[in-house]
Amino acid sequence: MGTRQAGARHGSPWGSLLRNLLRTKPVDRIVAEGGHGEGGDLKRTMGLLQLTFFSVGATLGTGIFVILGEAVPLAGPAIVLSFVLAALTALFSALSYAELAGTIPVSGSSYSYTYATMGELVAWVCGWCLLLEYGVSVSAVAVGWGQYLNEFFAQTAGFTMPAAISYPPGGQEGGVINVPAVVVVLIATFLLLRGTSESATVNTVMVFLKIGVLVFFCLVAALAFRRGNLEPFAPLGAAGISAAGARVFFSYIGFDAASTAGEEARNPRRDLPLAIVLSLAIVTALYVLVGLTAVAAMHWSDFAEGGTEASLAVVLEVATGQGWPSVVLSLGAVIAIASVVLTVMYGQTRILFAMSRDGLIPEVFQKVNPRTAVPTANIVLVSLFIAVLAALVPLGRLADATSIGTLFAFALVNVGVMVLRRTKPAMPRSFRTPLFPFTPLLGVVFCVYLMIRLNAITWVVFALWTLVGLLVYFAYGYRRSHLAHAGAGRGRERG
Ligand code: ALA
Repeated sequence: MGTRQAGARHGSPWGSLLRNLLRTKPVDRIVAEGGHGEGGDLKRTMGLLQLTFFSVGATLGTGIFVILGEAVPLAGPAIVLSFVLAALTALFSALSYAELAGTIPVSGSSYSYTYATMGELVAWVCGWCLLLEYGVSVSAVAVGWGQYLNEFFAQTAGFTMPAAISYPPGGQEGGVINVPAVVVVLIATFLLLRGTSESATVNTVMVFLKIGVLVFFCLVAALAFRRGNLEPFAPLGAAGISAAGARVFFSYIGFDAASTAGEEARNPRRDLPLAIVLSLAIVTALYVLVGLTAVAAMHWSDFAEGGTEASLAVVLEVATGQGWPSVVLSLGAVIAIASVVLTVMYGQTRILFAMSRDGLIPEVFQKVNPRTAVPTANIVLVSLFIAVLAALVPLGRLADATSIGTLFAFALVNVGVMVLRRTKPAMPRSFRTPLFPFTPLLGVVFCVYLMIRLNAITWVVFALWTLVGLLVYFAYGYRRSHLAHAGAGRGRERG
């Protein structure tokens, strides 16, 4: 380190490389640029309710409707504790998100926060991880949607789609391409191209529906509550609880989605922190209730077989012995999961928008259509990427890749809070995370712990993904960064 600093002082190539990699984007500049793209500005249309619903809409989806079924065999009835573990991880990071979203209320979420606090290279890595959190997760969610669509057809019309068109290769025998997953991505693309306020209204309606469906599940499953199903409570011990926690963490991803809509919020400094914390509280309450009633209604060992396919519908069928509750649930899930695809895809386009505005990716991602006020080409490119993955990769792989990328990005946000408190202690903050520095520190610890609990293949995918990201950065963004050309904000920004 001493040598590097000496290099930097004397202007050696290594010193200048290091300075460039650490160049931060001044917070005031990030905020001043907010909302502006080429060809037009984003519109400020979202209030607290819409932002909260936006985050809830991005969160309640495939995780609770499908992945719960994959996680129960890992933990048994103690899946309830796995949800609490994942919620705690999400909570510490949510508080950090809330602080940074209230301080730097722009569209780029953790990418923008790390650019302001830890410099361009870390920001790039974070933005690259957000492609996992947002882009790849939409693919996973779209796959879950297809499962419920199939379940709905099976229940109502006695018809199941052929494996060749409803599974990817490796997903199930005979799988070739997942057509339903592509269809839901196309529907979301169409809505997003029409404009933000329309998408937000559709989303609000869908959120009401899906909360209703999950409450319906809890009520019906509670009628079949059997105490004996909860014993023994933790048959696979603490290791099982944490492994399942890492798996269900996927279901919490999205509570931070409001932080991607900072430039379309009417009062971002007040509403973004509130929306993030409120949405996490709503989904945690729902998840614990759904998890508890699910394992009380159907013995945990029965999840192993039918668990991965439309698991909540299967629980209702087994628990009640009747078909209609699972038809209602499947229909609700089809609508619910579609709203996740919509909101998370929206978030992805806005993150790329912010990265493009900084020159780190091509300009096409920030071109706003003056008529609809949405970044059209950006939406089309994002949906293509998502559709291809959704068509060809199995759900488990997509979900775990999403989780590892998200946990890493969350860890960076926690570090970002600590850095900004140090570098800009006097900066106005509309929300301050309580018990600082313990909360963000615990946030980092929990994120790293859950990352470690994910399997080896996920780590290999993550390492390769990061490597490709670094290659792209050095081949493109490093040179084209607007910060490099403006010459401003070089080195660490002084507070
Ligand atoms: N949390 C989102 C879901 O479960 C990604 O679908």
